[in-house]
Amino acid sequence: MRPSCADETSPAEGASATDLNQKAAPWVGDRIAELPLLHYDSRALATSISSPGLAHARATIMSHRFSVIQTAPPDAILGLTEAFNADPNPDKMNLSVGVYKDENGQTPILKSVKAAEQKILDSEATKGYLSIDGLPEYRADVRNLVFGETLAADRVAVLQTPGGTGALRVAADFMRTQLPKARIWMPNPTWANHPAIFAAAGLSSETYRYLGDDRTSLDLDGMLAALNDNAKPGDAILLHGCCHNPTGIDPTAEDWKQIASVIAEKNLLPLIDFAYQGFGDGIEQDAVGLRTVLEHVDEAIVCTSFSKNFGLYSERVGAVSLVAADVEQCTAALSQLKRVVRTNYSNPPRHGGAIVATILADEQLTRLWKEELETMRLRITRLREQFVETMKSTGSGHDFSFLLRQKGMFSYSGLSPMQVDELKSKHGIYIVGSGRINVAGMSETKMNSFCEAVASVMS
Ligand SMILES: Cc1ncc(COP(=O)(O)O)c(C=O)c1O
Repeated sequence: MRPSCADETSPAEGASATDLNQKAAPWVGDRIAELPLLHYDSRALATSISSPGLAHARATIMSHRFSVIQTAPPDAILGLTEAFNADPNPDKMNLSVGVYKDENGQTPILKSVKAAEQKILDSEATKGYLSIDGLPEYRADVRNLVFGETLAADRVAVLQTPGGTGALRVAADFMRTQLPKARIWMPNPTWANHPAIFAAAGLSSETYRYLGDDRTSLDLDGMLAALNDNAKPGDAILLHGCCHNPTGIDPTAEDWKQIASVIAEKNLLPLIDFAYQGFGDGIEQDAVGLRTVLEHVDEAIVCTSFSKNFGLYSERVGAVSLVAADVEQCTAALSQLKRVVRTNYSNPPRHGGAIVATILADEQLTRLWKEELETMRLRITRLREQFVETMKSTGSGHDFSFLLRQKGMFSYSGLSPMQVDELKSKHGIYIVGSGRINVAGMSETKMNSFCEAVASVMS
């Protein structure tokens, strides 16, 4: 039987052709003997073996540079989704992955998006490259949605990026090269990809306190004390613009003012991740925190994602916006951001940005999109309310009313890793180990059985 890759051994450096023939595994030995061995170094010999059937022999002869590579741990959340897909339980429920779901557990394409795509299909004249910073009309839309009328347009550089993740990576690469001394302060906890992206870019990161001891509220005093005591002027601070992932705990408007004051006093650079605009209280309301910070400082970076609020997950559409003190500084920073993009993915994909721009250029489509976004937001609010009420009616004595104060798709449920395991194995309910739930993954019709299951593992 052909040995697996794991069984192979590399010939020692400088082995002769005879050595190679003798030491090669028996299943290759006879075939190698048939070859005209004109060269005695293993690389040349390997090149001379071209038959597909002998590809393995070539791999055996060459040194195995990939043999030292360690298998990376699988993505915890995507791994759970694979297990969910394979689960035959008809009542299964996936509350793990961070996408919006409707009552049928589907992630629908918005009607406004379909209509915009039809328009694009009818009118699109080229598949030529976009410029490094993307579609101009899209960039103007991002500026309006994020900043409104609050800033002079020439102080803001906007670049279209492949999703919010792309925006974060561009921002991180920019900071690493242009602000090499800046450390980035992240809330604890934060979206798991934040530390990974910053580490991949080579930024050094620190964490600040965010979650109170009750695990259901913001520890504002702890957060401000951590920043006051430990952050150095010139450091950057990561903030979730709204709908904090994974806790759903957002600062109040009053809290934002205090946060903004400390940022200004300590001369920190705010890096605001704005991935859920419209999922908390509304499009404008969700921008209050970000705009409060910008009233206190001249400089900031905002990373936008339209994956959630336009349902454009797979189209990879987002933006990085840099706010500078004046037009000259903005122009210089933009040129460096463009360099980062050019050496990463050159220029962004067109389709997602074109959809957003087409919707926002059309009054009717804009109205339809806002209605659809509102429908998603209100469904999440309704599910939060229904869950809290239904949990009460189970008589388990567990009070989940803290969920009503939290925003967006996520909340920390307080379920322990053992309870999470039991929910999966006994009830087909999939939740990540930290106990974070995606409220949008709940179902109104299955709420009773879901709450019974939660109550049973908590008893
Ligand atoms: C807080 C946060 N930031 C950024 C992103 C990335 O969004 P995108 O899918 O557009 O890359 C996500 C996605 O889940 C997120 O939760």
